[in-house]
Amino acid sequence: MADNNTMKIHDREFRVMIPAAEIEAAIDRLAARLNADYAARAAVQPPLFLGVLNGAFMFVAELMRHIEFHCEISFVKLASYSGTGSTGKVSELIGLKNNIEGRDVIILEDIVDTGESMEHLLRSLAGHRPASVEIATLFFKPGAFTRDFPVKYRALEIGNEFIVGFGLDYNELGRNFKDIYVVADDK
Ligand code: IMP
Ligand code: MG
Repeated sequence: MADNNTMKIHDREFRVMIPAAEIEAAIDRLAARLNADYAARAAVQPPLFLGVLNGAFMFVAELMRHIEFHCEISFVKLASYSGTGSTGKVSELIGLKNNIEGRDVIILEDIVDTGESMEHLLRSLAGHRPASVEIATLFFKPGAFTRDFPVKYRALEIGNEFIVGFGLDYNELGRNFKDIYVVADDK
């Protein structure tokens, strides 16, 4: 750590890009949209928020403090590894204990970059026949997104820069910081 605005993680220098207050305001606005869109449905059947570990933990905690309808909150983890067979990349959903058949599901993700990992998640969830699935992400990189599924709820959009903080990591460090930091060196 250097001073209040910069810090070193592993081999890279980072500087504050988005202060915590701005992130929290964006999450508050996103919660207001969700409250408007889901309140009526939630009175019939509470939707399920599904946080994607590890990165989404702080986003989920902050968002939930502003959600005003009844809901269930659970977490999943996506394990991806290279298969040895012809299918190549295999992904598996760890921890989905809830029966989501016929339920409204809202995925909570820290960041959608190319969209590849979200595509895997959407595919595994579809097999469980939910009534609806929407994506709410803290960060969206429009310049990096290469897929065509809708990402309806985006708290903040950024460029293609690499960020850490508020749950996001650089090789597992940096998740605990309340501000968002961006790479500040030109390695
Ligand atoms: P995807 O390209 O959308 O599949 O993103 C895959 C994963 O890369 C995300 O879930 C994050 O864990 C990670 N990631 C993408 N961009 C960033 C970033 O700027 N900072 C930290 N992690 C990132
Ligand atoms: Mg992630």
